[in-house]
Amino acid sequence: MSKPRLEGKVAIITGAASGIGEATARLFAENGAFVVIADIQDELGQSVAASIGLDKSSYRHCDVRDENQVQETVTFTLEKYGRIDVLFSNAGIIGPPTSILDMNLEELDNTIAVNVRGVAATIKHVARAMVQHKTRGSIICTMSVAGIVGGTGPHAYSTSKSALIGLVRSTASELGKDGIRVNGVSPHGVATPLSCGLSGTEPSQVEAICSSTSCLKGVVLKTRHVAEAVLFLASDESLFISGHNLAVDGGFSVVNGGFVLYQ
Ligand SMILES: NC(=O)c1ccc[n+]([C@@H]2O[C@H](COP(=O)([O-])OP(=O)(O)OC[C@H]3O[C@@H](n4cnc5c(N)ncnc54)[C@H](O)[C@@H]3O)[C@@H](O)[C@H]2O)c1
Repeated sequence: MSKPRLEGKVAIITGAASGIGEATARLFAENGAFVVIADIQDELGQSVAASIGLDKSSYRHCDVRDENQVQETVTFTLEKYGRIDVLFSNAGIIGPPTSILDMNLEELDNTIAVNVRGVAATIKHVARAMVQHKTRGSIICTMSVAGIVGGTGPHAYSTSKSALIGLVRSTASELGKDGIRVNGVSPHGVATPLSCGLSGTEPSQVEAICSSTSCLKGVVLKTRHVAEAVLFLASDESLFISGHNLAVDGGFSVVNGGFVLYQ
């Protein structure tokens, strides 16, 4: 039997009470990691940790907008497990798809506070711990096809996810000397409370939109597929990959579906 891909590694996952973060927490634990589930949905987060097993995971309340809570989560993880090998900075919100002509700038601020400032705060405090403990760690951020292709997400959301492309590249450039890799994953639409809440759609509708706009046919994108890509970036299998934005989108972001040459 092959060795678990994250055997003995310690990971913090933000936004792990639900959706992509939850699926990744389960997959990391199946692969031998200890996982700190950091979220603001306490009951849900605790029940995810309990179902994974409290010998392999812990829940920690952490609002990524609050730098103190991020720092406390890092301290908690170091005290409990002694090190941090992986950060999956995944917590995010989407906000309503309003016209730029009516944009509520407070909603823009809130989206940036979670999706950009929150990610920066997690990278800051986890990278500090990794540098201090001389850990050659892996940091992965959840971006989105909405940060790559215009018109596929609300303005504030697309702005925030594009900003993460810069943050990932920029932090990869600094942290490489310490052996720390920083990458992102950019999923296409996957049925979760976030995507279903965007327009009050059913999971099957989100999946139908994603499937019809991906050039890869015959696969429906699930949270587990995104988690598999994150596991790859977290593990030593991606040892020389840094600063990369790995699209998990069935070719959506690199193929112009409106230009039909091959049927
Ligand atoms: N679902 C999609 O179609 C899709 C596509 C591309 C990218 N994404 C990104 O994936 C990530 C995860 O979203 P999801 O689809 O799994 O949705 P989700 O709603 O299932 O999970 C998001 C989690 O983030 C948590 N969260 C929100 N604000 C937080 C805060 N301030 N501090 C800590 N935790 C917070 C929520 O409580 C929730 O558990 C997000 O960054 C989202 O932008 C989702």
